[in-house]
Amino acid sequence: MSAPAKLLILVGTMTNTAEYVAQAIEIDCADLVSTIEVRLMDGLDIQVFEEDALYVICSSTHGSGDVPDNARHLYESLASEPRYLGSVRYGVIALGDSAYPQTFCNGGLRFDERLADLGAVRIGDVFRHDASAGTEPEVVCTAWAREWLALALNVTA
Ligand SMILES: Cc1cc2nc3c(=O)[nH]c(=O)nc-3n(C[C@H](O)[C@H](O)[C@H](O)COP(=O)(O)O)c2cc1C
Repeated sequence: MSAPAKLLILVGTMTNTAEYVAQAIEIDCADLVSTIEVRLMDGLDIQVFEEDALYVICSSTHGSGDVPDNARHLYESLASEPRYLGSVRYGVIALGDSAYPQTFCNGGLRFDERLADLGAVRIGDVFRHDASAGTEPEVVCTAWAREWLALALNVTA
């Protein structure tokens, strides 16, 4: 397998934090991979995983542990239009708040579970950002993304 030259960040967000995180990664990691695209999940379905790309799911959590509204169609299509995703390599940034201990970061974790069920291979651990931790999500998620990209490009080389 040769390393994909593209990183595609799929963003599930309600109040834009996940989008700002993805945009920060797009700028900060431009030296590591030739193309980085940030795409909001609105209107996407499982076909988005047909590209020759590394994927990062960058999703917050809303409701009572749900994926954000703009992520619902994509999330549901992973169950309603299932197909084998064995060639997909992905990472997960799960945004949440430990003030919701029962459902902490469930939005990203739900995506991880469905992708794994379809044979996609996660690289590295799920990265959780806690809105109550007092850390800047753009800063800590970008630091994680640099390490993750180095690992992912190495694994897929
Ligand atoms: C109404 C509401 C419900 C939330 N529910 C959860 C939850 O169940 N679990 C969790 O970990 N975080 C929960 N959060 C926290 C958000 O996921 C967190 O603040 C995140 O950074 C928001 O990202 P976004 O602006 O990209 O949507 C909730 C936030 C709001 C406003």
